[in-house]
Amino acid sequence: MLNKKILITGGAGYIGSHANALLNTLGFQTIVLDNLVYGHKESLHYAPLPFSHKNVFTKNPTASSQNLETNNFAPTHTAHTQMAENPHSKLTCHTEHSEVSKKLDSRLFANAQNDKEVIQKRQDDKILNTTSSKTQTHSTDSNILNTQDSALDFLAQLVRNFNGGGVNTQDSILYNNLKSNLNSNNDLSRQLHTAHKNTTFIHSSLSDKATLDSIFSTYQIQAVMHFAAFAYVGESVKDPSKYYYNNVANSLSLLESMRKANVKNIIFSSTCATYGHPLHLPITESHPQNPINPYGYSKLVVENMLKDFSHAYGLNYVILRYFNAAGASMLFNIGESHSPETHLIPLLLQTALGQRETLSIYGDDYPTKDGSCIRDYIHIDDLANAHILALKYLLNGGKSEAFNLGNGEGFSIFELLECASRLCERKIPYTIESRRDGDPATLIGDSTKAKEILGWKPHFADIETILSSALNWHSNQRY
Ligand SMILES: NC(=O)c1ccc[n+]([C@@H]2O[C@H](COP(=O)([O-])OP(=O)(O)OC[C@H]3O[C@@H](n4cnc5c(N)ncnc54)[C@H](O)[C@@H]3O)[C@@H](O)[C@H]2O)c1
Repeated sequence: MLNKKILITGGAGYIGSHANALLNTLGFQTIVLDNLVYGHKESLHYAPLPFSHKNVFTKNPTASSQNLETNNFAPTHTAHTQMAENPHSKLTCHTEHSEVSKKLDSRLFANAQNDKEVIQKRQDDKILNTTSSKTQTHSTDSNILNTQDSALDFLAQLVRNFNGGGVNTQDSILYNNLKSNLNSNNDLSRQLHTAHKNTTFIHSSLSDKATLDSIFSTYQIQAVMHFAAFAYVGESVKDPSKYYYNNVANSLSLLESMRKANVKNIIFSSTCATYGHPLHLPITESHPQNPINPYGYSKLVVENMLKDFSHAYGLNYVILRYFNAAGASMLFNIGESHSPETHLIPLLLQTALGQRETLSIYGDDYPTKDGSCIRDYIHIDDLANAHILALKYLLNGGKSEAFNLGNGEGFSIFELLECASRLCERKIPYTIESRRDGDPATLIGDSTKAKEILGWKPHFADIETILSSALNWHSNQRY
């Protein structure tokens, strides 16, 4: 087991909680620092989705995950609290665990050599097809099986990324950690059910320097994933001070504490908003960074701080510039819950589910194929996985870099609307409003660099899977 830990600031938020769950699944002990201004403590007490779980929208949404545990541990107001396992847990996993484990094993231990991998994959597919036809009687929807397979493939890919070569032998900690936590002799279900116990939650703000220093002196922190920030573009225009204080000043406090404690590795959540209006598409990392709002500026300032700290103090960083994070975990009962919600996909699906009256579409006269804005959506698990790869990269001595993270493909709002309507089998009411200031017609990212250097490969790239996972979450939203 690792005795060094990963500090995750903002780890109770949407993206941070997904990265936390994957890190825990791989056996990493994490320290989550979050003031819960926007985050959810429940997102740290997650449970696996049953593998027979209908991970697509059902017309009877109450049926699917009511049996999943919700947050019923005591509220935390103290600074340091270890998450405790709930002894009354009612978690259930409906599929034969050994069968699921076997499927994962066949993926995990596929030979890393390409040709052998292909052969293994074909064999796996054969096994899966046979298994699928056997289990088909338990289900009326082949999507369940596809989703299960896809989630298992993802998990296997996650582990193989570390296990299958490329890990510096000096960093045997990582290798041994993974080997002991997800290997063929372990029960997959048990691993997934207990993963959350690897999280230690600290309810505090980045602005509390004493707590920050005490975290670094109490725990051996190997690296920091820095998600904590405010991220409402419109609010940043109205109240920039709030953004420069939280996103910039508090990031500086974090870097100062890291410097004092000699912690050298950080992965920073940046954004495509640092590019401003695109001069060319898809946007590459070398595209000029000219943000058009205080939110984008605040992130760019931190990027520059990281570069200066790297130059002066030897800090190692990976800057990840996300495009639109979307969807919900394919493995755990966690998902997107912002309040207020401003992200398109939750708004769209909440409207589809009758939780909102209508979806506002801002502008239908853009120079795009159908007049609505086009954006690049990246599945949250793929995004979280990129953080794990960035961590591996830094721990293996990779040089400080910035990477875009998007799917490289754009979808218009009307395309999303059509896809969601199809999945829900209902019309989704919408109104056309006037354009919002500063909304570019099209934003699409080029993630070639992340693919080439980090070895990142999006696993849930198609928009239907992204929307299905989100729909599944919003139909049974836990927090
Ligand atoms: N969601 C996206 O599509 C997207 C796109 C680009 C960049 N980002 C960046 O990714 C990061 C995470 O975004 P998200 O969508 O998960 O947002 P989120 O609001 O769900 O998560 C942010 C978390 O940080 C916490 N937090 C904020 N200020 C804090 C402080 N001072 N101390 C401790 N905790 C604090 C919040 O409580 C919250 O849990 C942000 O930095 C955001 O700018 C997000």
